Amino acid sequence: MTERITWTSRWAFILVTIGSSVGLGNIWRFPYIAGTQGGSAFVVIYLFFVLLVGIPLLMAEIMIGRRGRGNPADAARNTATESGRSPWWSLIGWTGMIGALVILGYYSVVAGWIVDYFWKMLIGMRFDSQEVAVAGFAALQANPIELILCHSIFMALTVAVIARGVVSGIERANRIMMPALFLLLLLLTLWGGIVGDMKQAAHFMFDFKPGDINREVVLSALGHSFFSLSLGMGVIIVYGSYFKRGSSIAFASVWVALAGIMVGLLAGLAIFSLTFGYGLEPDSGAGLILQTLPLTFAHMPGGRIFGSLFFLLVIFAAWTSAVSLLEPFTAWLVERAGLTRAKAALSAGLFSWLLGIGVCFSFNIWSEYRWFEKNLFELLDFWSTSIAMPLNGLAVAFFVGWVVRRHVARDEIALSDRMFKVWQVVLRYLAPLAILLIFAHSLGLLA
Ligand code: PHE
Repeated sequence: MTERITWTSRWAFILVTIGSSVGLGNIWRFPYIAGTQGGSAFVVIYLFFVLLVGIPLLMAEIMIGRRGRGNPADAARNTATESGRSPWWSLIGWTGMIGALVILGYYSVVAGWIVDYFWKMLIGMRFDSQEVAVAGFAALQANPIELILCHSIFMALTVAVIARGVVSGIERANRIMMPALFLLLLLLTLWGGIVGDMKQAAHFMFDFKPGDINREVVLSALGHSFFSLSLGMGVIIVYGSYFKRGSSIAFASVWVALAGIMVGLLAGLAIFSLTFGYGLEPDSGAGLILQTLPLTFAHMPGGRIFGSLFFLLVIFAAWTSAVSLLEPFTAWLVERAGLTRAKAALSAGLFSWLLGIGVCFSFNIWSEYRWFEKNLFELLDFWSTSIAMPLNGLAVAFFVGWVVRRHVARDEIALSDRMFKVWQVVLRYLAPLAILLIFAHSLGLLA
């Protein structure tokens, strides 16, 4: 067997995994969901889930990938058979790989909105009042051609990186884009503090009001903790499969989770400061940052340049995540169907691209079609984050906690006895229990 390709170092793995985790989830989804789910109640529960369930699950997925050394389906199967268990455990990988392509379908459409705004900033369009900003976003939603065009551009960028390979494509893209993103986010937060209403933003995000907690808030917080850590989609498994033996999985997982939290909170603070500062409502939904930020940039000295740069960096953040969504199935096509990387990336990308076209229509000509009161876009987002990801996470926790033999897990997760035990208790009892309870509750099984 040929040696599997690996990232160039432990930090490279941490960087690309942060690149996957930090994306539209932190900058676009987090503020808008927090805004519609009562702010602090959502934020606090989300942080709790990231720390309690997220980190142990990150470790479990990295472990499966590194132990099984393959695309998610094969990695899960190899890990299972090594423990003398059924090869059918590869299903965990399958549901992840398919889920990732579905997410990419709508993820790319949202990233396309950002591409669109990047362009608008660049050519100097000004959204200088609240009405103009809100109308601008509505006009984009109403225009399927513009949506499809931007979605296609973004998808092409994603396929291009994946086609170049793991190190010269994914790793290199991350090395350039991630540091730049972080720097700009800091600047934006500073700016939010200067012209916006940071105090109100902090109250909105952190004043914990237990009365605001309800089942929807808890379920969305759980779903978002999975989404923002790229869990339950085979992504961490495949990235873990390129992770060198001998580096600490726990160390890497803690770093990834903390970086995600930090970027999420920074972005949230910045965006809510500006939202309140300009008298906008935090619960305006999926268009929140596309209404708030352009308005801000219009009133900021050098706003055109800063605005273009900022949207460019959001594109980077989305790009490094989108790439990770395309990798699991691409790896399968290369390893199992014998396609070249370029062909594999193209075929997997084609699937998501087609789905994305449906999503583009769901805002305009297909907006009448609704299931459970949701259009296709909302349905895919709800299905993937609130159902597929937690269920897959449940399966992964069960698999690593109960199915994989102790000495196998022990061998990969080099932790002290005590920490290893804690990890196992979380995977065996806490994580499954939390996920099941939340499910039962949201299905109305528990009043
Ligand atoms: N974590 C990414 C984000 O926050 C989205 C993502 C989800 C990426 C699942 C990979 C897998 O934008």
